[in-house]
Amino acid sequence: MPVKKKSVSVKKKVVKRKEIKPVKAKKVLPPKKKEREDVEVPDKKKVAGQQYTLVRGMRDILPKDEDKWFSLQHVAEDIARAYGFGYIETPIVESANLFIRSVGKGTDIVDKEMYVFDDRDGNKVALRPELTASVCRAYINHGMHNQVQPVKLWYSGPMFRHDRPQAGRYREFHQFDCESFGVHDPVIDAELIAVGYNFFRDLGINVEVQINSIGNLEDRQRYLVELTGFLRSRRGQLSEESKKRLLKNPLRVLDSKEPEDQAVLEDAPQILDWLSDESKSFFMKTLEYLDEMSIPYVLNSRLVRGLDYYTDTVFEFFVPDNTEGGQSALGGGGRYNLLVEQLGGVPTPACGFAIGIERVMIEMERQKKEGMIGRKDTQKLPVFFAQLGEQARRRTLFLLEEMRRENTTVHFNLAKTSLKAQLEIANKLGATHTVIIGQKEVQDGTAIIRDMESGIQEIVDQRKLAGELKKLRRIDVVSG
Ligand code: HAM
Repeated sequence: MPVKKKSVSVKKKVVKRKEIKPVKAKKVLPPKKKEREDVEVPDKKKVAGQQYTLVRGMRDILPKDEDKWFSLQHVAEDIARAYGFGYIETPIVESANLFIRSVGKGTDIVDKEMYVFDDRDGNKVALRPELTASVCRAYINHGMHNQVQPVKLWYSGPMFRHDRPQAGRYREFHQFDCESFGVHDPVIDAELIAVGYNFFRDLGINVEVQINSIGNLEDRQRYLVELTGFLRSRRGQLSEESKKRLLKNPLRVLDSKEPEDQAVLEDAPQILDWLSDESKSFFMKTLEYLDEMSIPYVLNSRLVRGLDYYTDTVFEFFVPDNTEGGQSALGGGGRYNLLVEQLGGVPTPACGFAIGIERVMIEMERQKKEGMIGRKDTQKLPVFFAQLGEQARRRTLFLLEEMRRENTTVHFNLAKTSLKAQLEIANKLGATHTVIIGQKEVQDGTAIIRDMESGIQEIVDQRKLAGELKKLRRIDVVSG
């Protein structure tokens, strides 16, 4: 069929010509001062052919490092999950005051290294120099004190410090960070040290754990009077940097690596002698738990860490045989019982650590560790581990480590002591079975496996426990 053509009528618009009036020449004003400050317009002639280089202290991650980079991320994720840490991500930009208040005025990070600027709304913001303060802020903002404690959180991401760049020290670097909130118990400190230590072990890297206690606030104030008096009496022998530190933050003099300071520090009073009975016993218990998990450590009475928020336990992961100079601290952390409250939250004890990913990569190269491709096949069983009494708790620590070595992980809450509270958590997590270790089981070398639905209990040899539990693996693995 022939297609009828539509007739399209085009109406012509009649545009009336306006009378053209002479326009007054407008004065062209320069852009407002504020706008001009923000945007620097490059001179086109000058930039033609110019090459842009990296900003000082920043690095690219290239395909040649891909395997190491991803194996580090995977090991971090696997281990954090195995110990029951939940993932958190916080923004790179935070209010500058958050860090000034927590890391502290007088610390190198706040006084010299923080990237601080006014944003376009005139707010003083900072690129985060560390993560602990941000995670505390998030804990408070999201009311996490209402959840079952401890609340365990982990993260891995970039941090920024405007430090003097050198091997292993960058202005943008990455940290693997774990924080545990809500429980004041040395078992938490020991667990965090175990997480860090086992992270290195899983990568095949040899590290030395150095540990100290800086006591509670009152212990430290009494010690500071003593230390300051001592350092003043030997002021003439101190390095110029330590003289400055003596005025601003005397505790940091203990950190100095200068030979002249080392000679003075030989005779300095030791903080461990100034600890209250409570802090001393807390520290001793932390060490005992580490022994229980066969984690070797070295006591370092001069370890104080460069951030203000620590109380009681402080620790660092060091390269043991670092003869080539460079940065030997691969990671560090400690307890910070007052920080959440200082930042406006309810009083919440806490403890955590962070490991510097770039430094670990350098160490992997030095120790000729290639990194692995692919993930560890870790099974999370729908099983909860409950313990009754101090000895059982230690035994549980040991058994949990043993199970983790066999790539089997279970749920646990070492902060709870009553069986009722632990069984409630087991139910909440949807565990199908609970392993119970009490005083009798410690002595007999046995464990009770309780079916949570039927209540039927079975007694097994502790040496066969991992194998028995693996048999219970169901498709519906619970998370938590
Ligand atoms: P930090 O000792 O300041 O602690 O940093 C932890 C680790 O980050 C260091 O041991 C190091 O490996 C790495 N790191 C620090 N600065 C640089 C840099 N400029 N370049 C490369 N790597 C670097 C903290 O940040 C605390 N927030 C740790 C913590 C968590 N405490 C309790 N919870």
